[in-house]
Amino acid sequence: MSDQAFPAIANAIKRLTGLHIEPEKYYLFEHRFPEVMKEHGVSSYAALLHEIEKGTNQKLISRVIEKITTHETRFFRDESIFDALVEQIIPEWKERNFQGAGDGQYPPLKIWSAACSTGQEPYSIAMMLAEFHLQLVRKTQIIATDISEESVAKAVQGRYTSFELSRGLPEKFRKKFFSETDGGAQINRTLLPAIEFKPMNLVTEPAPDRFDIIFCRNVAYYFAPDLRLALFQKMKAALKPEGVLVLGSAESLNGILTDYVLREFGLARYYEMNTANVTLFARKKKTE
Ligand SMILES: C[S@@+](CC[C@H](N)C(=O)[O-])C[C@H]1O[C@@H](n2cnc3c(N)ncnc32)[C@H](O)[C@@H]1O
Repeated sequence: MSDQAFPAIANAIKRLTGLHIEPEKYYLFEHRFPEVMKEHGVSSYAALLHEIEKGTNQKLISRVIEKITTHETRFFRDESIFDALVEQIIPEWKERNFQGAGDGQYPPLKIWSAACSTGQEPYSIAMMLAEFHLQLVRKTQIIATDISEESVAKAVQGRYTSFELSRGLPEKFRKKFFSETDGGAQINRTLLPAIEFKPMNLVTEPAPDRFDIIFCRNVAYYFAPDLRLALFQKMKAALKPEGVLVLGSAESLNGILTDYVLREFGLARYYEMNTANVTLFARKKKTE
């Protein structure tokens, strides 16, 4: 079964979230939207489309977004990037920023987990910093954002079920950074760098201040091609010189942007943006 309003609903969702929903995925509308329609007294898909386009019923729009977004995540997803973070990305950042700085006088390390879902990604970053770069913990600012208000609320809570914890969290980190609760555990944020969680739509809102490192993983994959380009341009603009962009393992800048340097560390790949040639030369010499 299909509905005449589905193509226009798919377009409206693209404008709202960036997400690209192909006709063969329209069945998702039938699975996920009737509940929202019932809650808001909307009797047809055409009426739902009208409400989305009108844009005045924020509660309905939030529910539509919750229903259509995928929040799949886990601790230390694609774990090699976390080794790259503490063994290559941060040591290089230190090399650039500690030079000439007095004791503790270096600038803050600013990290953005864009599309952080329920928080496992920013907490994984934070735990790695606390474990391997303790001296940076008080000088690090992590901002973690997601379009889904429900996901951000869960991330702020920092409470996870045993099943969620079993997905990627090493036992020694569970012991060190969590307190056990009924059926799961609660993260202890006092041991970690500061993390500010907030709802943010990557398509319609401007990026926050400039960052040293951006994790923007497993979201561009779901975007329409034109909005994927816009997203990567936004990420590039949000990075400081020599800032690092980390994408998901199925995502790439190849064929989309040209002015970046692809870096590797073991199985991990990430992008260095806004890099002046002179730095490239210096780094090349260092590794020769
Ligand atoms: C598959 S999860 C990825 C979570 C995490 N980055 C990871 O790799 O494990 C994708 C997240 O992107 C968020 N998202 C989708 N569209 C978005 C948008 N336009 N702005 C911000 N977040 C968005 C979803 O709510 C979801 O939590």
